[in-house]
Amino acid sequence: MNNFTFQNATKIIFGKGTEHQVGEEVKKHAGKVLLHYGGGSIKKTGLYDRVVASLKNNGVEFVELGGVQPNPRVSLVREGIKICREENIPFILAVGGGSVIDSAKAISAGVYYEGDVWDFYIGKAEVEKCLPVGVVLTIPAAGSEASTGSVLTNEDGWYKKSVDTELFRPKFAIMNPELTYTLPPYQTACGAADIMAHIMERYFTNTPDVDFTDRLCEATLKTIIENIPIVLENPEDYAARAQIMWASTIAHNDLLGTGRVGDWASHQIEHELSAIYDVAHGAGLAVVFPAWMKYVYKHNVPRFVQFAVRVWNVEQDFHNPERTALKGIERTKEFFASIGLPVTLEQLGAEEERIEEMADKCTAGDTETVGEFVKLNKEDIIEIYKLARE
Ligand code: NZQ
Ligand code: ZN
Repeated sequence: MNNFTFQNATKIIFGKGTEHQVGEEVKKHAGKVLLHYGGGSIKKTGLYDRVVASLKNNGVEFVELGGVQPNPRVSLVREGIKICREENIPFILAVGGGSVIDSAKAISAGVYYEGDVWDFYIGKAEVEKCLPVGVVLTIPAAGSEASTGSVLTNEDGWYKKSVDTELFRPKFAIMNPELTYTLPPYQTACGAADIMAHIMERYFTNTPDVDFTDRLCEATLKTIIENIPIVLENPEDYAARAQIMWASTIAHNDLLGTGRVGDWASHQIEHELSAIYDVAHGAGLAVVFPAWMKYVYKHNVPRFVQFAVRVWNVEQDFHNPERTALKGIERTKEFFASIGLPVTLEQLGAEEERIEEMADKCTAGDTETVGEFVKLNKEDIIEIYKLARE
């Protein structure tokens, strides 16, 4: 196990009715907020009214900026920065999923920066100071409610890039599993793929002696695998929704990555798909991850055997470990398909003709490698996209 520092300062307020506490929680930080949200689901579900009532009851003023799209755009972030500056807003409240939270994080950093906020995402500038961000989470998926990341799309060229900094960890995250009852089944499934990907990115590591975190990863994966079919059958199963919601935060708040080096190639390979085709990140991962696994499993067959046996209960073939490893990969793909996700590029709506372009963008013109478990160059990534056709 490697040395590590683990600090996660996000306060989690979890359970039924917790959104009513939002005003009280915000007030501890500020008397005025930017209320940031997405395309309108929070208005349809009535969450917007409850949040606004709680803010008003606690004397918190707010200015609104809705309209965050999935795969959040830098243009709206620029608008948010302008509003925060003009209105002297000291706090951002994100009510929604990963897209809203990531947009809020980007605004929070941009407010203090004189240049263009996209500079952070292309490594031209480093985030040094941020406004505090609070969250009311409506979808378990990205894990952004307690993560260091923010992922943004630039419409100019359709680039999707991420920034990671401890400064991005939200001050609090209010998580009521009941708020996820209204999720369309497809979004629930996309969330599942993303959560599982966050765990698997950490699981496939070259770091030795990490059995404790292996076990945590396996338990978290099993929690998703067992509970997703339950909520697809019965969207209002509180117990299952709650397991999924908490597991999704743990999947990406860095606990499972302690003492080990994660991979993250599949995320980068996926980001090229959601940048160009504007598909849900989780759907892209359901296509990319099994293909990545097929391409790299020979690098450490015993680790893939462990994954197959412990996560998918595959019977171990002691004479043929590769067969066991491949079964685990197959089961992963079958699971994604069984919950209604695309598992091939074609099902995702991606064209073969653009594979080279995506691989090129992913590796900055073949000048950088991607991933840690196996370092991949442009040619490798082309092969992975090709495997994702099947
Ligand atoms: O926009 P509205 O109308 O709110 O609808 C949203 C959106 O269409 C809908 N939705 C959310 N909660 C709902 C609901 N509909 C009904 N009832 C509810 N309770 O779901 C759709 C998807 O929302 P979005 O926020 O895009 O989902 P998600 O949380 O999956 O976020 C995806 C984004 O997060 C990034 C992804 O790349 C993608 O851009 N990621 C961020 C990470 C991070 N910051 O740490 C890590 C991840 O790996 C990921 O890359
Ligand atoms: Zn993800």
